[in-house]
Amino acid sequence: MNGTEVSARFGGMALAPGGWDILLGGMNKPSIPAPVLTELNRQANHELAAAHGYTAMAAWCEAETLPGCAAFFRRQAAEEREHADKMLSHLLDRGVLPEFAGVPAPRQDFGSLLEVAQEALAKEQANTRGINAVYEAALAAKDYPAQVLMHWFISEQVEEEKWANELVTLVRGASCAGSLASLDRHVSSLLEAGKGD
Ligand code: FEO
Repeated sequence: MNGTEVSARFGGMALAPGGWDILLGGMNKPSIPAPVLTELNRQANHELAAAHGYTAMAAWCEAETLPGCAAFFRRQAAEEREHADKMLSHLLDRGVLPEFAGVPAPRQDFGSLLEVAQEALAKEQANTRGINAVYEAALAAKDYPAQVLMHWFISEQVEEEKWANELVTLVRGASCAGSLASLDRHVSSLLEAGKGD
């Protein structure tokens, strides 16, 4: 959240230069249980790492002349950043300045589109495990706001694993270069029609 967004959230109040930094820097009374904070902070960083991974997948697809799949993974990367933002905003709303971890180098050594699709599925399954861990911490701590937040993510992961499974199945069925190109055009047309969610 930058100074403008903070200002908007606080009704457009104007502060002296550096004022919003002072406000954010003064977040020393977190109203969130420590185990939930740890899990939510960890998962926010995991979502950012997932965005990095999907960006690498998009680059691989672009290099392999699969523009539909490249666009799909670029959009997926943007979604993962939105997921991270939801978690980071929740922490900020509760008086916590999040801690950012280093983002690990993503996998790039794919031998085929099937390996890319399988990596996407593995990534989403890992995301689901991470989301569940946050939720379990929120349940144990009776942290109701975090539970409500995580309900959205739990539903979202059903959709995320669904498309990843479908992608693996579709790619597995596309056994030659011609059918891969056809699949890529199909992904492209789904995105254009707004049906790729
Ligand atoms: Fe943030 Fe694809 O789950």
